[in-house]
Amino acid sequence: MKQLLVFLCGLVCVLADTPANCTYEDVKGKWVFQIGKMGHDNTINCTGFPSVFNPAESKIEVSLFFPDLAVDQFGNKGFWTLIYNQGFEVVIAGRKYFAFSKYKQSGSTVKDMCDQTLPGWSHDVLGRNWACYAGMKQEEKRSVKVRKTGLTTSYAGIRYRSNTTFVTDINRHQRSWTAVKYPEYENMEIEDMIRRAGGRKSRITDIPKPAPVSPEHARIAVGLPKSFDWRNVNGVNFVSPIRNQASCGSCFAFSAMGMNEARWRVMSNNTAQPVFSPQDIVECSEYSQGCEGGFPYLIGGKYAEDFGLVLEECNPYTGSDGACSTKKDCPRMYSTKYEYIGGYYGACNEALMRIELVKNGPMAVAFEVYNDFMHYKSGVYHHTGLTDRFNPFEITNHAVLLVGYGTDMTNPETPQDYWIVKNSWGEGWGEDGYFRIRRGVDECSIESIAVQSFPIV
Ligand SMILES: *[C@@H]1O[C@H](CO)[C@@H](O)[C@H](O)[C@H]1NC(C)=O
Ligand SMILES: *[C@@H]1O[C@H](CO)[C@@H](O)[C@H](O)[C@H]1NC(C)=O
Ligand SMILES: *[C@@H]1O[C@H](CO)[C@@H](O)[C@H](O)[C@H]1NC(C)=O
Ligand SMILES: *[C@@H]1O[C@H](CO)[C@@H](O)[C@H](O)[C@H]1NC(C)=O
Repeated sequence: MKQLLVFLCGLVCVLADTPANCTYEDVKGKWVFQIGKMGHDNTINCTGFPSVFNPAESKIEVSLFFPDLAVDQFGNKGFWTLIYNQGFEVVIAGRKYFAFSKYKQSGSTVKDMCDQTLPGWSHDVLGRNWACYAGMKQEEKRSVKVRKTGLTTSYAGIRYRSNTTFVTDINRHQRSWTAVKYPEYENMEIEDMIRRAGGRKSRITDIPKPAPVSPEHARIAVGLPKSFDWRNVNGVNFVSPIRNQASCGSCFAFSAMGMNEARWRVMSNNTAQPVFSPQDIVECSEYSQGCEGGFPYLIGGKYAEDFGLVLEECNPYTGSDGACSTKKDCPRMYSTKYEYIGGYYGACNEALMRIELVKNGPMAVAFEVYNDFMHYKSGVYHHTGLTDRFNPFEITNHAVLLVGYGTDMTNPETPQDYWIVKNSWGEGWGEDGYFRIRRGVDECSIESIAVQSFPIV
C-alpha cells in the first residue's frame, strides 16, 4: 500500500518552488505604497494588511529606475534593489520598505502578481517607527504571469540508492576534482537531499550574469594577494567551525550566520567568537520560509539589522520547523550596511568579490547545485554535465560561505583559479567540510549574487 501511495504521489503531488518569480523588468516603474499606522516596533504583525484593524493611513509614490535609483513624488532620491526574484527593497526619505512580491498558488498553477506586493515592513533607517505597507504598481497593463510549478514533482518516500557508474563516470570524465560515494546518502529520502542542497524555495531562475569590471576595480584587484584564505591569515584562523544543517533547507541561515560569525572574529581580532543560532532563523524569521528555504540577503543582512541574531544556546539547532522558541531574554547582536556585492542585485563580479573579501571578511554566496556536486570529495569543482539517471534530483540554489581564493598548480600547464568555500554538510564532506570551485567563469552562477553585511561590534 505504501509503495502504491508513493508511486501515485510521485505522479500527482506538486510542491511550490520559490514563492514568487519577479524580474527586474516586472518591478521597475512607478509604484504607490499604502502605509499603515506608524509608531510600532519590530513586533508588528503585518499579516492581512490593509484591514479594518490596520487600515492604510498614508501613501507615497515611488518610481524605480535603472539600475538602483528610486525617486518619490517630492523629488527625493533614494535607492532600490531587487531581492533575487522574490521581492524588492526601497530606501528613501529616511525610511526602508521591504516586501515580497505577490503570488497566488492553486494546485500546480502559480500566478506571479509582480505589480503588487504582499504586506511588507517599513521603518526608519535606524530601525524605529515601524509600519506595515503594501505596494501596487501604477500601470495600465497588469503584469500577471501564470506558470506551472514545473520542476516540482514530489519524490516523497523515494530513497536514494548509490550508483557507482555515475561516480566512476565523473572521475573518468575529468581530472580537476574527485567524486566519491558518501555512505550517508544511502537510503536518504530524495526530498531530504534536495532540501539539504538548498530546498525548493531557494531555486531561482534568471540569475543575473556578473557585471562588467570597471577599470578602477580591475586596478585594485591586480594589487590583491595572489591567494588568500581567512582560515589562515599569517597563521590565524578567523572562520568559525563547520556545522551540519542535516536535512532541513536551512543552508541560507548557516551561510548567513557563518558570515556574521567570521566577521565578528575579523572585526574584533578574534576576541569575540560568537556562534549564532540558525534555528532562530528557521523558526522565528518572517523573512524566510524556514526549512523550505530562504535567502542570505534577507537573513545575514536584513534580519540581522532589523531583529538581530542570537547565540546558538538561545535556540539550539534541531533542523526542523516549529513555533519560535528562542529564549526571550537572550541578547541580540546586530549587523548593518547589508548589500549585494557591487551595491544592488546584478552588480556583482569576481573582482569585486575578491576586493570585498580581503578587505572585510568572508561573505555569503550561492550557486546552482547539480547532482554531480553531491559526490564532491576534493579538487577544484566544475559541473561536468553528467547526470545520475538512476536517482531523480532537481537543480537547487545552495547558499554557502566564501572564505578565500587561490590558483591550483597541480598541472602547471593548466593552472586553475578557484574559490575556497565553506559548506554546511559536516566535516566529513569534501575537503574537511570545504570545497573549491572554479573562479573567474561564474561557475554555477557563484559570481552573481554574493552578499555582505557588517556586524556592529
Ligand atoms: C521566471 O520569469 C522569467 C521571466 O518572466 C522566466 O524566464 C522564468 O522561466 C521564470 N521562472 C520560472 C521558474 O517560472
Ligand atoms: C499575525 O496575525 C495573523 C492573523 O491576522 C495570525 O494568523 C498570525 O499568527 C500572526 N502572526 C504572528 C507572528 O503573531
Ligand atoms: C590581534 O591579535 C593578535 C594575536 O592575539 C595580536 O598579536 C595582534 O597584535 C592583534 N592586533 C591588533 C591590531 O590588536
Ligand atoms: C547507474 O546509472 C547508469 C547510467 O545512468 C545505469 O545504466 C545503471 O543501470 C545504473 N546502475 C544501477 C545499479 O542501477
